[in-house]
Amino acid sequence: MPKKRVAINLARDSACYYEYIGKSKEDKAVADWIDARVKGLVKPNGQPIRILGIGSGNGVKDARIAEKVSQKCGQVYNCSVEPDKNSVEEFQKLVVNKIELAQVQFDFKTQTEEDYRKSGEAAKFDLIHMLMVLYAVDDIESTIIDYYNNYLKPGGAMVIMMEHEQNIRSKVVERYAPLLPKYENAYMNGNANGKTIEDILKKRGFNYRRTTLPSTVSLHVGCDHECGKSCGLLLDFITGVDSTSEKTPDVVTEFVAKGKASIQKGDKVTVNYDLAAFVIESQ
Ligand SMILES: C[S@@+](CC[C@H](N)C(=O)[O-])C[C@H]1O[C@@H](n2cnc3c(N)ncnc32)[C@H](O)[C@@H]1O
Repeated sequence: MPKKRVAINLARDSACYYEYIGKSKEDKAVADWIDARVKGLVKPNGQPIRILGIGSGNGVKDARIAEKVSQKCGQVYNCSVEPDKNSVEEFQKLVVNKIELAQVQFDFKTQTEEDYRKSGEAAKFDLIHMLMVLYAVDDIESTIIDYYNNYLKPGGAMVIMMEHEQNIRSKVVERYAPLLPKYENAYMNGNANGKTIEDILKKRGFNYRRTTLPSTVSLHVGCDHECGKSCGLLLDFITGVDSTSEKTPDVVTEFVAKGKASIQKGDKVTVNYDLAAFVIESQ
């Protein structure tokens, strides 16, 4: 059953996410994956290759994907569905006048993926990607099925990235779900991870390939150093708690500091934050 949608603090979530991205190895792991894998997912067909990006954020990854596809196939139409206006503006600034993207036509839909589907646009795509976004959709399983059945061309490919089930955030959210105010609110699927996706793909008999993208991030718990603001954003990202409006339960900070999945040196902890990437090929 889809859960009830409530307001999400997109600006705060974005700030936490990009602080994490800046400090972790995740962006490099994702960039390496894109460089190694994306060209193998598309082939020239005499028409612009159609890409759909769900939850594009600031567009760094989406632009890299579009660039790789364009290098191989030439003309590209890239449709981006992203509800956060500021993120869309960042994406637009990133790609404007970029010579490597000269053959890519960008189309920005400033809306949620749910509203995009409700808009009834009957378009099919060669490549659909959902990078670190399925936590936020109303219903993960029906979202995957609907895009696969109704938006992916035969012979097309769908890419999903999520946190690996072994990473610290997954452990924190699962263990402390009853304590986390956001668990039943904004982070409706906050306990979803790579295993959630794999279970759905297996159950539905999809043909898929899975890869692990290794990543770590370090922060000081209860930080009183100069990097205090940064550490606060990182902790909020990892725990899924917005400490500007809710108190982070002590038990969560303790777990991050002392959790089995982290290495502690003084008040600095380095946590495992691997990702899982899935490629689902349309048959
Ligand atoms: C964790 S960020 C990932 C951004 C980007 N895909 C990346 O990997 O860098 C999740 C993004 O999904 C967007 N988002 C949140 N709810 C969404 C929804 N229901 N439909 C589409 N995008 C959504 C957020 O605004 C945010 O930009």
